[in-house]
Amino acid sequence: MIPASPLLPNPTGSLLIPVQPSGVNLQQKLPKFSLIIPTYNESQNIAEIVGILVEILDRQIPSDYELIVVDDDSPDRTWELASKLIPDYPQLRVIRRETERGLSTAVIRGWQAAQGEVLGVIDADLQHPPEIILQLWGEIEKGAELAVASRNVEGGGVSEWSIVRRFLSRGAQMLGLAILPEVIGRLTDPMSGFFMVRRSAIASKLLSPVGYKILIEVAARGQIRWIAETGYVFRERVAGASKVTWKQYIEYLQHLITLRFSLWPVTRFLRFGIVGFSGVFVDLGVFYLLRTVLEIGLTRSAIFSSEIAIINNFLWNDLWTFGDVSSKQIGNRKRLRRFLKFNLVCLAGVILNVLIVNILFNIVHLNEYLAKLIAIAMITFLNFWLNSKLSWRVTDTEKE
Ligand code: GDD
Ligand code: MN
Repeated sequence: MIPASPLLPNPTGSLLIPVQPSGVNLQQKLPKFSLIIPTYNESQNIAEIVGILVEILDRQIPSDYELIVVDDDSPDRTWELASKLIPDYPQLRVIRRETERGLSTAVIRGWQAAQGEVLGVIDADLQHPPEIILQLWGEIEKGAELAVASRNVEGGGVSEWSIVRRFLSRGAQMLGLAILPEVIGRLTDPMSGFFMVRRSAIASKLLSPVGYKILIEVAARGQIRWIAETGYVFRERVAGASKVTWKQYIEYLQHLITLRFSLWPVTRFLRFGIVGFSGVFVDLGVFYLLRTVLEIGLTRSAIFSSEIAIINNFLWNDLWTFGDVSSKQIGNRKRLRRFLKFNLVCLAGVILNVLIVNILFNIVHLNEYLAKLIAIAMITFLNFWLNSKLSWRVTDTEKE
């Protein structure tokens, strides 16, 4: 008897993609592309999807790819069926996970076992048209770090979705946009589970197992400058059943919030707050000097002391809060530009501050001091955000 084709060992430990494929002899020729097919009860689809993918990929990149089925110990024995296909398709590998569960981790574990420098994922149920894979590959070859099959660009769509399902899908996207604009805003179809990413873009970033939508995780934590998108029509499922339940919507929300907290520059914001606080004392000190010691007029003293405080804040922010950014934008001209922008943001802040206090006091009828406190808090956030977008822009040094 011939022993059953061996299954691939199950990657364990933290959810990190290694910079170099692990456990392989680097002398041996490795495939360039590794495509993960996550499965749960896909016995009716697995042979067909593998056959179609092999045919398509053999046309374009013969013997330069591998397919990795990651099955969560399906009761219908998808893993067994898949492993029986290996003699026909030597580029096929199969992982049977007996302890871990979930779509996101299935994909990540697959990538951990992958040998390629380009990592991809496609559903097993044929809802993702397999031929799109070549277009995605083309985008990566052109230089994109991430190539996503999208239902919301030209050529894309859904086949027979009800109004309710369309509404839910769009609603989820809007929610994502509100919570995580800098990530979701870059993707027309953040829910897509059909994409490719360069290993180098996500290697050694700790990925979180939360959520069903691994693309959001990749786009949020990866180092991705260029995202390409290709339209596709999400087909109806012919065989098997979807695994999506209400639980996934909750997980999605949890995922967005987790990412929000881990992407927010907490340390930077704290420093910005401390510097702002120091500015208050500089302002008061200089004001006292001008008014009481030098006996200069009120308005002139106020303006002068504010400007000194702004200079103080700028210097500390440039040196400390955003030191990592400014150290890459060397030269006095650039520093002057940052300083002028900072001034502009501060000025806008003062005007808005007055506006907010007026609204809260005169219209909302809050206590004056409470109104002022709220205004200060709001302006601090706004100032921080504007300054990191304008004055100390990370992307000034590495923009697409
Ligand atoms: N290993 C593993 N573990 N695979 C899973 C699990 C799991 O817990 N849950 C689902 N899968 C597999 C399915 O077998 C299928 O191949 C694929 O993941 C997608 O699951 P479906 O249940 O068919 O999801 P869908 O039809 O709602 O698709 C939506 O989600 C997909 C995945 O994010 C769409 O948004 C797709 O575009 C998206 O690809
Ligand atoms: Mn499906």
